[in-house]
Order: sequence, then C-alpha cells, then structure tokens
Amino acid sequence: LGSGSRPRDLAGRRVVVSAGGTREPLDPVRFLGNRSSGRQGVALAAAAAARGAHVTLVAAHVEVPAPAAVDVVPVQTAAELAEAVHSRAAAADVVVMAAAVADFRPSARASAKIKKSDDPSRDPVVVLERTPDVLAGLVADRARSGAGTVLVGFAAETGDETGSVLDHGRAKLARKGCDLLVLNEVGEGKGFAAPTNAVVVLGRDGSEREVAETSKDVVADAVWDAVVPMLPPHVP
Ligand code: CTP
Ligand code: CA
Repeated sequence: LGSGSRPRDLAGRRVVVSAGGTREPLDPVRFLGNRSSGRQGVALAAAAAARGAHVTLVAAHVEVPAPAAVDVVPVQTAAELAEAVHSRAAAADVVVMAAAVADFRPSARASAKIKKSDDPSRDPVVVLERTPDVLAGLVADRARSGAGTVLVGFAAETGDETGSVLDHGRAKLARKGCDLLVLNEVGEGKGFAAPTNAVVVLGRDGSEREVAETSKDVVADAVWDAVVPMLPPHVP
C-alpha cells in the first residue's frame, strides 16, 4: 500500500506512539535493556502520518530512522517514557504503547563505574524495583478525566501450560483495560528485529482481527483500521 493510496481517515487527529526499548542504568556505562528494535512502532507512526494524523513518536533507542513527518521525543528510561507519554496523552486522540517498557529497574544507580575487587565474595548483587506501568496509568487517568482517548497496547506472548497465546492476550487486555491489544506470538525468530510480524488485534468489544505474517507496514495499517471506528466524531 503506497502512502498515496492510504485513506486520510486520521486527518486532524493527534496521535502519540511509543516505540523501541527502554534502558535502565546500572552505572554510568551499563544498563538493563531489551531487544526491541522499534520497527513496528516506527511503522505505526509513519502509517498514521500518511493517513493524515499529527504524530508524536516517543522513541526509546529506536534502531531505524524516524519518519520525516513525525515529531520525535527521544527517551532513555521507563520513567522518562512515562513522563513524555503522560504529558502528551490528554491532548491526544490515540495513544499507542508499542514500546517495550522495562518492568523493573535497578533500585540504585551507581554514580561511578562498578569495579571488580580482588574478593569475588564482594561481587555486586543487583536489586530491582518496579517501574511505573504507563499504559495502566493512561487507563486510570482516562477514567478520572472522562476523556475519549483511544488506548492501544501491545503484548508479545508465548503459550504455556496455563493457556494459549490468545488466552494470555485476552487476559492481558482485560487486566490492562485498554481498547485494543495488538498481540503477537514470540519465539523462533518471530517479532523483535524481524521486518515482518503476525498479530491478532484484540478489541475490548471481543473482536479479533487476525493479520497473517506480513510487513510491519501492513500490520500498522491494520491497527489503524481497528482504531478509526473507535474514534469519536472529529470536530475540525
Ligand atoms: N507497558 C507499559 N508500562 C510498563 C510495562 C508495559 O506501559 N511498565 C505497556 C507496553 O508498552 C504494552 C503493554 O503495557 O503496550 C503490555 O506490556 P507487557 O510487557 O506485555 O505487559 P505487562 O503488563 O508488563 O506484563 P508481563 O510483562 O508480566 O507479561
Ligand atoms: Ca512487561
């Protein structure tokens, strides 16, 4: 789908997309991070801009170039990402949380580089604390303010003895309280750095849109196709 043939169904809408993976510092030279490349979030931002939206990309270590027509807010940590997203959410029609946000961060950050000593029994132990759940915070803020912001989450899941990928996705959608959850199965080279993705877009209304393995650009348009009918009428 070329940008010229895309519908302009996000014209005048304000969209915030978080993308990439946060990094939580241990000391001035080390961090805890994850393998998210930011490709799917960048594809979402580009597709929204092509459909007419004003797009802010909150970018945590995104490995691919940002689209030209998008405002980029670079962030490092989960706390910075939370601040960047929350401060823009009230004015947004849609917030898409495509970023892989750290669940835990080191509870202390050493101000100087951590060194080895001669005594291995004194090797450091990293203690972790929870980061804020940005999406849960957006859902809570929306409930308080009564705003009509459409909230979209992402989840990468594996099936296990307690349930299938779809079971875990449905449970997460209910737990998070967002409107849509873009679910992908991870493992065996699926997801992360790959140029393609296969997802199921789960709706709060029980809908399920399956998008078989395709480019992250096509996945992005399928997500916006699901978002557009949830938007309140636009008053220009
Ligand atoms: N998310 C967030 N803030 C966090 C962690 C996750 O906003 N601190 C968002 C992600 O951007 C994603 C959604 O929540 O849109 C689901 O993330 P996921 O890691 O799948 O869910 P968690 O609730 O963190 O559960 P778990 O990792 O234990 O499966
Ligand atoms: Ca998580």
